Amino acid sequence: MAFQSIPRPPHADRIAIEKQSQRLVTAFIAIGMIFMLLPGTFLGVWNLIGISRRHTLESLSSAWLQAHGQAQLYGWVGSFILGIGFYSLTKMQSTLTFPSRSAWTSWIMWTLGITLRWIAGVTSWHWKILMPLSGFFEFAAFVLFYRSVRRHRSMSIHERPREPWMILVLGGSIAFLLALTVNLTAVIYTVTRSDVPAFPHVFDQQLIMLMVWGVLVPTIWGFNARWLQVFGGLKKPDTNQLLCAYGLSVLALALVFLQWWTACGVLLLFVAFLAIEALHVWEPRVQPAKLQGVHPSFPYFLRIPYIWLVVSCVLNMLAVRFDQSGGIWGASRHAITVGFIAGMVFVIGQRLLPAFCGMRTLWSPKLMLWSLLLLHLGCAFRVTLEPLAYGNSWQFAWKLLPCSAVVELAAVTLFAGNIFATLIQPPAHLRVATIPATRGATSIKC
Ligand code: HEM
Repeated sequence: MAFQSIPRPPHADRIAIEKQSQRLVTAFIAIGMIFMLLPGTFLGVWNLIGISRRHTLESLSSAWLQAHGQAQLYGWVGSFILGIGFYSLTKMQSTLTFPSRSAWTSWIMWTLGITLRWIAGVTSWHWKILMPLSGFFEFAAFVLFYRSVRRHRSMSIHERPREPWMILVLGGSIAFLLALTVNLTAVIYTVTRSDVPAFPHVFDQQLIMLMVWGVLVPTIWGFNARWLQVFGGLKKPDTNQLLCAYGLSVLALALVFLQWWTACGVLLLFVAFLAIEALHVWEPRVQPAKLQGVHPSFPYFLRIPYIWLVVSCVLNMLAVRFDQSGGIWGASRHAITVGFIAGMVFVIGQRLLPAFCGMRTLWSPKLMLWSLLLLHLGCAFRVTLEPLAYGNSWQFAWKLLPCSAVVELAAVTLFAGNIFATLIQPPAHLRVATIPATRGATSIKC
């Protein structure tokens, strides 16, 4: 007798791939936060204490400095982008498959790549082997991600016109691939020509600009174009203006590589205002914000990062003209990396990640408020004090500078604690609330 296998109902397949993608995004978010906390922020704080003790930026090993920057930009924010990118596949595709094998191979290679790069930079142990290996792993992990995204997208939304937010996110992904290609080439060059595991200063700054303005800023604008209207209750974005801002930011990046710093500074300030205008960030809401599961201050914290974007661009222009000691450059970089990027990841992350990582709710909205308050406070201290201290204009600023790092460290720890606590609690629909015995010891599912 021939047995016919009973086909699984399509919704069972959907649930299965949803679970697979939730597990993967959780793994990327968890590893991203570990990179943010230990190799990223702790090393950053350590570096700042070292600089403040010796009263000069020159005293710090460039390999340590770059190890911190790599762990934050690639290890933390990069891991979040990869995880959310893989997760979005399940939402966008029409096929009932999830690229599990590619996705987990990509996670392993990405984690290895970031870890090896940090070890090479901080310890110099066998760095001539570890650095190229790390560059290769990071590149290969991203290629796997990119291929999976393209393959699945072409099966699903290929025929539909691309929405502007998708163009920005796609532009950011292409720039990510470019940054990792340049990084791989540069580590091979460094290994053959240098005695230390660090890139030459100007090239390092150019690569940071590529990562920040080419990858992270457009990705954030893309997500903002998609979600600010929904969650923040803001007006529908002006897509032509936003695409124009994006096009000009690509031009500004070209100027960075030509080392036309003044023109680039002016253009980036213009681009920042254009994007703010396009996204209607500072205009009144047209509908109520969606505040379920988050702190009621959420709509304000959505807007504050854009103040830091403008501050960063203004400081960038001042740095080109006046900076001798690295203080104004550092303040400008900090305003964009901590104020804008981390500020936005903290606020959007605590809104979206609990749902992405298994339909959970944020563990503590109050902790969300404190993490955001401390982050912006620490950033304000740092951005104000760094030019004064590094430029030796106010000696006491050297004493206060490490405090800014401690405040930021507290913010980062609260954010990570809140997300980890969210991840370890059961999904919202399985959570059992127990009614006190006096009212009858009944279990309810909420
Ligand atoms: C939270 C506390 C943080 C502290 C205490 C800190 C500290 C530092 C210090 C001392 C430097 C050296 C140069 C300078 O003084 O400007 C630096 C550079 C840098 N930081 Fe941070 N930082 C923090 C957060 C972040 C975050 C969240 C990011 C990115 C998302 C970031 C990205 C960078 C980058 C890219 C550099 C330049 C590295 C290089 O020149 O290669 N930092 N940071």
